[in-house]
Amino acid sequence: MRKILFLLTVVAALGLVAFAADIPQDKQVLQFKTMMGTVTFNHAAHAKAAPNGCVDCHHKTRAGETPKPCSACHDKKKADGKKLKLKDAVHKNCWDCHKKNLDAGKKGGPVKKDCKVCHVKKKK
Ligand code: HEC
Ligand code: HEC
Ligand code: HEC
Ligand code: HEC
Repeated sequence: MRKILFLLTVVAALGLVAFAADIPQDKQVLQFKTMMGTVTFNHAAHAKAAPNGCVDCHHKTRAGETPKPCSACHDKKKADGKKLKLKDAVHKNCWDCHKKNLDAGKKGGPVKKDCKVCHVKKKK
């Protein structure tokens, strides 16, 4: 009986590992090419540091589900009720967390005024 319980626990644990969403190898660091310059975002480091993990940014994702791109719901061109347009949704997500951390005296990142810290134009 004990052995069976042990095996069941192992199977359950493996199941959890198999279903837990991971960041794909080619998405550990993301680069957003925008007209303002390229934004480099260390996705893997952020996921590790985020207090609630993936859902701190992928807010409509359930535990274990593979996140969809923000653009699946946030339109590039216009807001739809409370659904901000893509650029505003991403900006708000980044700026709010950085500001909250900095205001609390913790480590944060670039905030609204720091356009050019995030958006880097290639030197010619
Ligand atoms: C924390 C980093 C960060 C800061 C600071 C920031 N941005 Fe962005 N911005 C991004 C990211 C990431 C995207 C890409 C969003 C997407 O396409 O999913 C973006 C997208 C944009 C876009 C859309 C461009 C396109 O080609 O679609 C514009 C315009 C823009 N930002 C302007 C600004 C301005 C102006 C400021 C300063 C007031 C600013 N950003 C500050 C990260 C930042
Ligand atoms: C600090 C914010 C943040 C955290 C935390 C985060 N991500 Fe992301 N993730 C993003 C952004 C921004 C994108 C780019 C979305 C886009 O292109 O619309 C993205 C894209 C993705 C994509 C690609 C979606 C697609 O099909 O293009 C996957 C998969 C993904 N994340 C998985 C994860 C997983 C799994 C975790 C937790 C282990 C996680 N992310 C944590 C911000 C975050
Ligand atoms: C499955 C659909 C869906 C996806 C995918 C999605 N969102 Fe949203 N988002 C919404 C909806 C719906 C709202 C309107 C408010 C609400 O219901 O939470 C919203 C609202 C927001 C808001 C405003 C929340 C507030 O406090 O007012 C931000 C910021 C945001 N999303 C950022 C993101 C980012 C960043 C991503 C990608 C990493 C993303 N969203 C992916 C559906 C989505
Ligand atoms: C849940 C909180 C949170 C969110 C959301 C978040 N960040 Fe950060 N970010 C941090 C923290 C904390 C640091 C400081 C890390 C350090 O200094 O060790 C940071 C640092 C940074 C830095 C400077 C260090 C580096 O990694 O190059 C950049 C650039 C950055 N973030 C970009 C972004 C962008 C772009 C987004 C939105 C797509 C974003 N962050 C969303 C918490 C967050």
